[in-house]
Amino acid sequence: MIFKQFFDPISSTFTYLLAKAKGSEALIIDPVLDRVDDYLKFLGQNNLKLVVAMDTHIHADHKTGLGQLRNITRCMTCLSEQANTSTVSRKLTDGDSISIDGIELKVFYTPGHTNDSCCFYAQGMVFTGDTLFIRGNGRTDFQNGDAGQLYDSISEKLFTLPDDTMVWPGHDYKGEHASTIGREKLQNPRYFNKTREAFIEIMDNLNLPNPKLMDIAVPFNQHFGDGLGDSFGDNVALKPEQLASLEGYLLVDLREEEEVKQVGTIENSIRIPLRHLEAAVRDLENMINHAEGVVFFCAHGERSALALEMTRELGFKNGKHLVDGIAQWIETGHPVIK
Ligand SMILES: [Fe+2]
Repeated sequence: MIFKQFFDPISSTFTYLLAKAKGSEALIIDPVLDRVDDYLKFLGQNNLKLVVAMDTHIHADHKTGLGQLRNITRCMTCLSEQANTSTVSRKLTDGDSISIDGIELKVFYTPGHTNDSCCFYAQGMVFTGDTLFIRGNGRTDFQNGDAGQLYDSISEKLFTLPDDTMVWPGHDYKGEHASTIGREKLQNPRYFNKTREAFIEIMDNLNLPNPKLMDIAVPFNQHFGDGLGDSFGDNVALKPEQLASLEGYLLVDLREEEEVKQVGTIENSIRIPLRHLEAAVRDLENMINHAEGVVFFCAHGERSALALEMTRELGFKNGKHLVDGIAQWIETGHPVIK
């Protein structure tokens, strides 16, 4: 397995890149905009294809690299469904899994630092974002933070993992790189021998200044997806009612199997996950030759816009996409099959 921890010294942020082996698919957790070149270099050196970029929460102390990585690599982006964001490929809920070639990440919804905080678990490792630090934890005094919720997230979600689980935090300010669940249970001064009430008392009296970049970083991180597909035009970016009355087009669902199981799909569609689209493009071309064209759709319209960009570059004509995804299709009362 390829595992790489990157560090951004300006915001003291850790970023993690995971892949099964050289030449396989990769995913990245909490990328920092200013460090995107480092990630691309590492991906190139190891012949990795970035297919997923995810943030543990909307960050307040640095600009996210999600948008730039997506624009360059056409990876999908993931954030908690609680995140107040305009465009994202997949909105995560507790218990979801993110699968790439040879790696499966489990999503734990862990509110407290913010109300959109998640941790990700894979193969004896947990990526804790700002929910749990080494001998510390994220603050709870902005972005709908809640000290009691954070205490519960840590004690009921993280501290029920095996003691030897590696803890890979979102930040460290003291030069440490990793810990374990067992060590944090015994050595984290915010928790060890503390009641929930005592923890809340500590967190409510930290009186920290706001992060310097907060007023810039938060809106940037909520709108990293803006602008994608803006040039497509009405005839290409379809609303649900336009798709419902369209005939003769091949419908391609770009979501992962788990997402389709959760909400269903549109009748007579075929499924090609975005990460497999490039490899399937010649087969797709053959199928489109027998149709008027192709309509891509996904959960919220980000992956379908990326697919449309990619296939246009390859010379596909008559491509369209469902602009706000199957979420809007369902919201406006259109049928799905399970
Ligand atoms: Fe944070």
